[in-house]
Amino acid sequence: MRPLLPSLLMALSTLLLPADEPAATATPAHTPAWLENAVFYQIYPQTYRDSNGDGIGDLRGIIEKLPYLHELGVTALWLSPCYDSPFGDAGYDVADFYKVAPRYGTNDDLRALFAEAKKVGIRVMLDLVAGHTSNQCEWFRQSQRHERNPYTDWYIWNDNVWDWFTPGLQLVVGGAERAANYVPNFFHFQPALNYGFAQPDPKAPWQQPITAPGPQAVRAELKKIMRFWFDLGAAGFRVDMAGSLVKNDPDGKATAALWAEFRAWMNTEYPDRAMVSEWSQPQIAIPNGFHMDFLLPFAKPGYKALFRPDGAAVPIFDRSGKNSIRTFLDEFEPLYTATRGQGFIAIPSGNHDTVPRLGNGRDPRDLAVAMAFLLTMPGVPFIYYGDELGLRALDGLPSKEGGYGRTGCRTPMQWDASANAGFSTASAAALYLPVDPAADRPNVAAELAYPDSALRATQQLIALRKAHPSLAASGDFQVLVAEKDRWPFVFRRAKGDEVIVVALNPTDQAVTATLPAAVVAQSLVPLAGTSDTFRREGDTWLVTLPPVSYTVVRVAE
Ligand code: NOJ
Ligand code: CA
Repeated sequence: MRPLLPSLLMALSTLLLPADEPAATATPAHTPAWLENAVFYQIYPQTYRDSNGDGIGDLRGIIEKLPYLHELGVTALWLSPCYDSPFGDAGYDVADFYKVAPRYGTNDDLRALFAEAKKVGIRVMLDLVAGHTSNQCEWFRQSQRHERNPYTDWYIWNDNVWDWFTPGLQLVVGGAERAANYVPNFFHFQPALNYGFAQPDPKAPWQQPITAPGPQAVRAELKKIMRFWFDLGAAGFRVDMAGSLVKNDPDGKATAALWAEFRAWMNTEYPDRAMVSEWSQPQIAIPNGFHMDFLLPFAKPGYKALFRPDGAAVPIFDRSGKNSIRTFLDEFEPLYTATRGQGFIAIPSGNHDTVPRLGNGRDPRDLAVAMAFLLTMPGVPFIYYGDELGLRALDGLPSKEGGYGRTGCRTPMQWDASANAGFSTASAAALYLPVDPAADRPNVAAELAYPDSALRATQQLIALRKAHPSLAASGDFQVLVAEKDRWPFVFRRAKGDEVIVVALNPTDQAVTATLPAAVVAQSLVPLAGTSDTFRREGDTWLVTLPPVSYTVVRVAE
């Protein structure tokens, strides 16, 4: 092999650029400008930082850690639900949408978090559990009563307690005062709010149309909840099960129309706030009002396969190289094309529902390659707390608050080498969930002190993304090399005059690829990762990546 050129400014004469260069995209209309450079960080409030030693994380604990989040470089937080709740589903069973759960603090603490975060340039998004409440919510207590009252039609009740089956819907049978059964949205204690039916069954008059008074009242209440938290300082919402609202709604059209209406309202009254949907159907969610939609491991294998084994298949980001980025791109590319210029696809490193964690089975180098992918792709990246360290999900934990198999990815953040990894001063037995007992468990303090840590790599990649317009959310994206069953993955990002090329190799073998036909006379400036990776051979350009590596270069005039 030819000796590699010296790093820094590699005086390369040409770089191969695709002939069919896409038209430049801009930030979509009515989209808050801050989304363009946003790097989100999801906090699971119960396990981030416990400020008062009761074993459960809280809002004051998050405020304490704002300097860390600022140093990491993230620009926005998403807090999983922090509202009053019996915590049958870890807070996704809301009892009072207008009140912070006492275990996390008070509404004033949340207001203080918004204000303190703002001082360091961080916005805070809340979780909007729009589709259901807890069965302990006052609205449901009223709704289940025998006497008609203002809440009677706020949930979906059939009209005969002896009717136990209805096509396409589940029912929770018995237990209410009224002689009827209700439709749950998730667990049995999470009754679905009544947004009506897109196509009510004419033989089941209890299936109300969207325009009926009950569904209209629920819709108005949802807006009231959003306004309440916007006015207190929330930057927006992650919307839980965003596609679940209207029932019997083929293709989600009526639910989408509801969100489009909410977006029009936000555009006028709260134009700097944003919503990201848990829908994983960006082609529906984005044109209908969501600023962002998550890719999630729901249906297609693409996102699901990125970092986690899927059945017998190894993850795409795996040293074996047995899976390739094609698996992901086959899902991603059509969705990207369908939504480009309208909103952003959000690729999360994981969340509180996904096991194992990014950190399971990956060392700091593997994590750096995964982060290089997440932080250079178009759209808006979301980092699940602890993934920046390589925090590992624990196996075999008993279910906590309806976590079941998800419980292992919800364990405490690991801050330092002190007791409970610095999460809490409570006794280990009193913690919400155990801290990873492994002797080599990662922690923030150790990784900040170690230049080659996953945390340092994440921090550098976040800074890189924020410094380069072409790496921002709406920068053009074009695949240069992505072959089935082969690495590397090479792609191009561009905005204005800036062009950046990223190449990734998560495998334990060196890989080489030939880039498409040459275009412009230019030079390459290494920005991050391994340098000296591009070289010319006759009329073609080759990129060669050592095992487990990535490279980011800017194409300079
Ligand atoms: C999705 C949330 O992410 C999950 O944790 C929750 O259990 C369900 N929605 C029900 O709200
Ligand atoms: Ca606490």
